[in-house]
Amino acid sequence: MTIKKIGILTAGGDCPGLNAVVRAVSKNALQHGIEVLGFKNGFDGLVRNEFVHITNDLVSGILTLGGTILGSSNIANPFKYTLAPFGSAENPADLSGAALHNFKENQLDALITIGGDGTLHMSQQFVDLGMPIVAVPKTIDNDLSATDQTFGFDSALSIATEAIDRLHTTAQSHHRVMIVETMGRYAGWIALRSAIAGGGDVVLIPEIPYNDDVIANYILERRSRGKTFSIVVAAEGAKNEAGEQAVTRTVAGSTDPVRLGGIAYKLSQMIEEKTKIESRACVLGHTQRGGTPTAFDRWLSTLYGTKALDMVLEGKFGYMASLRAFQMQEVKIADAISKLKRVDPYGAEVKAALEVGMSFGSADIG
Ligand code: F6P
Repeated sequence: MTIKKIGILTAGGDCPGLNAVVRAVSKNALQHGIEVLGFKNGFDGLVRNEFVHITNDLVSGILTLGGTILGSSNIANPFKYTLAPFGSAENPADLSGAALHNFKENQLDALITIGGDGTLHMSQQFVDLGMPIVAVPKTIDNDLSATDQTFGFDSALSIATEAIDRLHTTAQSHHRVMIVETMGRYAGWIALRSAIAGGGDVVLIPEIPYNDDVIANYILERRSRGKTFSIVVAAEGAKNEAGEQAVTRTVAGSTDPVRLGGIAYKLSQMIEEKTKIESRACVLGHTQRGGTPTAFDRWLSTLYGTKALDMVLEGKFGYMASLRAFQMQEVKIADAISKLKRVDPYGAEVKAALEVGMSFGSADIG
């Protein structure tokens, strides 16, 4: 089959590197004489038939640009559409038919979807309905098991690590405990790797339930050794032994409506009460998703983007580009979804953290 025209969209939470993928797909496609439509705001653009014609000029100079020139949405699910005027949170509408119609009406030969687990789910639903889709995995959380690394993660990691570096100096000056909260949803990758890279003292991740007394005693023990400050790195999804997590809100229409956040404030209060050491919370939040991608993410995004277009040319529909041992590969989207990659509490990274003296706030690990 000759490919003449393709669509591309960026869906889910944004992250550094999205534009680099859009650029790589588009430059590769335009070189092959393929027309590219960029749908706006994720699947919303496909439902509403809102798109831009991508030209070399449009994608020139966006390699280093954060965000996405196409816009994104983590609530525009065509199968359960909750955005007015076509649907509402109370009465979600199935507008997948409109998306399929627009795909055909625009005479597209393929669609490239760039997103995380929610986007992969929707992509597979459309594949099942006959839409030829190639997917590219994206998330700062790095929690997709079908790829060694998603783009966006390295940038988030470097932002979190820089924050830990900066918090060290102010913690030291004031002899305080600084609690830095990272994103990551149900996986502790950003917290663990930034804590290792930034020399954090305590790291709390969803995979290892923490105990308040273990954290407090560790900080007091540090103080007794003359270390008058401590850095606690807490993943937003970290749980205590009772399984409690900090939740800020729920977002109707999102594939995962739960929004985690606020654990740093709870920990700061708890630590101050138990240790009598002044503590402060610093929630990094969406700074981890903003700004320019790191060199690694620019490299990875370019590989993902060019690979995705190659897969389209080879007719590898229903597949996702994947990184394995620094090589680009293909995996079935169906095999990639719903398989979270989480930190192994007994794995090498946790062991390394323990061996440099870090605490996971747990009596069982360490
Ligand atoms: O999945 C990426 C992510 O940034 C998570 O780390 C975080 O929990 C969530 O998205 C935040 O979503 P929102 O942008 O809707 O606040």
